[in-house]
Amino acid sequence: MRRYHVTTFGCQMNSHDSERIKGMLESLGLGEAAAPDEADIVVFNTCTIREKPDTKLAAYLGDAGARKRENPELVIAVGGCYAEAQRERIFDLYPQVDVAFGPGSIPHLAEWVGAGGVGVERGRFGTHEHFAGDLPQRRERRVHAWVQVSMGCNSTCSYCIVPAVRGREQSRRAGDIVAEVARLAADGVREITLLGQNVNSWGRDLPPGLRTEFGELLRACDAVDGIARIRFTSPHPKDFRAPVIAAIAECDAVCEHIHLPLQSGSSRILKAMRRTYSRERYLQLVERLRAAIPDLALGTDIIVGFPGESEDDFRQTLEVVEAVRYDSAFTFIYSPRQGTDAAAMADQVPDPVKHERLERLVEVVQRIARERNAERVGRVEQVLVEGPSRTDASLLRGRTRRNTTVNFSGGAQIGELVDVLVDGATSTTLRGRIATAVPA
Ligand code: 5AD
Ligand code: SF4
Repeated sequence: MRRYHVTTFGCQMNSHDSERIKGMLESLGLGEAAAPDEADIVVFNTCTIREKPDTKLAAYLGDAGARKRENPELVIAVGGCYAEAQRERIFDLYPQVDVAFGPGSIPHLAEWVGAGGVGVERGRFGTHEHFAGDLPQRRERRVHAWVQVSMGCNSTCSYCIVPAVRGREQSRRAGDIVAEVARLAADGVREITLLGQNVNSWGRDLPPGLRTEFGELLRACDAVDGIARIRFTSPHPKDFRAPVIAAIAECDAVCEHIHLPLQSGSSRILKAMRRTYSRERYLQLVERLRAAIPDLALGTDIIVGFPGESEDDFRQTLEVVEAVRYDSAFTFIYSPRQGTDAAAMADQVPDPVKHERLERLVEVVQRIARERNAERVGRVEQVLVEGPSRTDASLLRGRTRRNTTVNFSGGAQIGELVDVLVDGATSTTLRGRIATAVPA
């Protein structure tokens, strides 16, 4: 049997795209290889959001090129956002690449990578032709599934390459999404994460008659039997309208966990980023969410060193972090992306300043996350069991509704919901034991 190997970079959308790439290749009769050097077809599903993934890819493609010199039959395919961003140059930059495809072209992969080594054409490329919500897929996890609700993004954040590589926003129809969720539930999935570049603007671009909004989608997914938990990522603060907040508050399955990208705590920088909200509007939104959704966990994304960011702007970011007290935060150094407006701005922040700010930010973020998790000690949390603990095989692992990983003792099956008494915490995980009912 011919074998494939997929290496994935980047975000959850890319992880999900890789599940679909694997599903496509398996539908051609290929099997998965344990490592790239055992594969006949190696696929790199790339990311280009910052410079770092670009550099990592170069190293991987160097290795694959060396293997191809020994085995000219090896097929090298590059998909994803970097391939799309470099579509004019990719075969010049990396002559060892046989097939390249953008995130919108996964449905064509089967045509391009023919089974049995025939049908591979060097230099094929395609982009954004189909909405690819219904392809075969090979799920990474048994009880959890990603569900794509839209592709592309209509925002114009000045730092971001994503709109250029993933195109205009296209929503998938509600009926198709709910049908997929029902199929997943029938297959034993208990938790879904709805995925979109901007999930909470979902539905507005659908044709008249089908046009709807994200709160309605949450309610429709909540009504599917067997789905115990619903998450979604990433929402944009500008699109958190009242019906979405009400749906989160009212739907039992929708978890008390929202990833709410801040990017900067300075209104001046937010304006230059074209985020379309101010620091005050963001903080008001946090208040509205917390008032409507008790015990809400908040996560965020923050960029330091955006062009023109002064020490005072950066301090305002620290202030917002202290005020909101996020449960988790992804922190990034601003990375200029060719073709974006911010990359052409004059007042780029020097590297040492960016690094120093990142260090200060990470310290605050971690301290607060540790304090937030410590507040859970002594409480009973509902945990969805995912498997054995990664650090101690005698323990089980799962996540709370607030999306914190818990390692715990006691017997339970994968996919079960159990009550866990929390007895320890770090900045990223909780520890505990299955709570036994107290006799009356
Ligand atoms: N530089 C650094 N971080 C970026 N992000 C997006 N573009 C850039 C960039 N050019 C971050 C944002 C976004 C997350 C997915 O990546 O914080 O929310
Ligand atoms: Fe995901 Fe953006 Fe990276 Fe593409 S460029 S994989 S959308 S993070």
